[in-house]
Amino acid sequence: MKVLAVNGSPRADGNTSHMLKTVLAVAETAGHETELYQAGGRAVRGCQSCGGCRKHPGSCAIDDWINELYPKMAAADAIVLGSPTYFSDLTPEMKAVIDRTGYIAGGAGKSLSRKIGAAVGAVRRAGSIHTLDSMNHFFLINDMVVPGSTYWNMSIARGEGEYENDAEGIRTMTRLGENIVWLLEKLG
Ligand SMILES: Cc1cc2nc3c(=O)[nH]c(=O)nc-3n(C[C@H](O)[C@H](O)[C@H](O)COP(=O)(O)O)c2cc1C
Repeated sequence: MKVLAVNGSPRADGNTSHMLKTVLAVAETAGHETELYQAGGRAVRGCQSCGGCRKHPGSCAIDDWINELYPKMAAADAIVLGSPTYFSDLTPEMKAVIDRTGYIAGGAGKSLSRKIGAAVGAVRRAGSIHTLDSMNHFFLINDMVVPGSTYWNMSIARGEGEYENDAEGIRTMTRLGENIVWLLEKLG
C-alpha cells in the first residue's frame, strides 16, 4: 500500500521533514511504498473559489503543482501532512494544499474517503496543537480515518536538526508510523 507525506515547511531538510521521514521509514520497513512530497517553499496561490474543480472534476483551474500533488493524494492509502507552527498555525503552502486539494476532492465525489490521514509538525515552543488541528480538520471533513500516537504529533525543535535531540518526538513519530501500518493492514 502507499503512504504519501507532504512537507509544508519551506525547509526541505528541516525538522518537519525529518519527522515525516521517521513515519515513512516505519511504513517502508513494513513493506509499504512511500513518497515524501515537498510543498513548502514553492510558489502557490490560494483557492480562488472559481468552481473550476466542479466543472473539471479531479483538477484545479490554477495549473500549478497542486495538480501534480492531488493525483498522488488520490492514489495514496495514507496521507501524512506536515507543517511547522508559524504564528500558531500552518504555513501558507500547507493551507493552499488543504483548501485546494480539499475542494478538488469534494468535486471528485469525496475521493479521499476512508484513506488514513495523520498530521505532524515541529514547533519551537507553543501553538502546535492549533496547527495539528487545522490539518486534522482536513482529514475529518474528507471522511478519512485518523490514527493517534502516544503524544500529540509534535516535536519541540527550532533550528534545523533539533528534532534529532527530541527523543519523545521521535518516539511519537515512530508510534504514529506503527499505528498507520497497523491500520493499513486492518483496512487492507
Ligand atoms: C514565520 C515563523 C513563525 C513561527 N511561529 C512560531 C510559533 O507561533 N510558535 C513556535 O513555537 N514556533 C514558531 N516558529 C518556529 C518554528 O515552528 C520552528 O523553528 C520549527 O522547528 C520549524 O520547523 P521546520 O524545520 O520544519 O521548518 C516560527 C518560525 C517561523 C519562521
